[in-house]
Amino acid sequence: MKLKIAPAIMDADLLRLGEVLEQLEQAGADLFHVDVMDGHYVPSMVGCTRIVAAIKRLSSVPVDAHLMVSNPHQAVRWFLAAGADILMFHPDAAEAPEAIIEDIHKAGRLAGVALKPDTSADLIRPFAGKVDCVLAMTVFPGFSGQAFLESGCEKIPELRRMCRAGIDIYVDGGINTETAPIAVRYGANVLVAASAIFASDVAPAEALERLRRAAEGALKT
Ligand code: DX5
Ligand code: ZN
Repeated sequence: MKLKIAPAIMDADLLRLGEVLEQLEQAGADLFHVDVMDGHYVPSMVGCTRIVAAIKRLSSVPVDAHLMVSNPHQAVRWFLAAGADILMFHPDAAEAPEAIIEDIHKAGRLAGVALKPDTSADLIRPFAGKVDCVLAMTVFPGFSGQAFLESGCEKIPELRRMCRAGIDIYVDGGINTETAPIAVRYGANVLVAASAIFASDVAPAEALERLRRAAEGALKT
């Protein structure tokens, strides 16, 4: 029976992952072991918190953590420790959303809530004045590359009325050069985009610029 060595990637330097994998392959790694932690079966989500920590080491751009988890209060503690600047959780998954917002503020960070396309703005009315931002999802959570659901934008004017003036309202899901103008016209000002930036026919920087131009064009009309 052959002895096999399986480096567990959890502790790899994410900033040099390609280089390290190549070195390990050259050195004869038989397997790459990827640990997946859901924060329930094990008390950790280190697979994701390490990404936040790696970005914070690399860039001064603020990190917003979109916590699509069923234990947001615990997850917030892990992502605060990882250094996230803005923590957004789904209030429909929280027993005590106001306590979570308070904990985020005690840590000196920004607290946001994220609403699925079919979650009403009414859900956040009791604490709308306390949030620093709101994310209106325009896809159902779980995957990038899905089609934009304009219905997810329809709550944005009401969110603007119930929250503090001038807060950031994000849209997230299916945002590209065609759909960004639609979302901006509803009152969104933060555009989250995965496939439009990273699965585009141009480099991410150019894709970001295209998205910004499309959205700013809508603001002018
Ligand atoms: C979905 C995530 C979104 C998604 C966006 O659960 O919250 O952020 O990754 O992906 P695109 O921009 O490709 O729709
Ligand atoms: Zn997201």
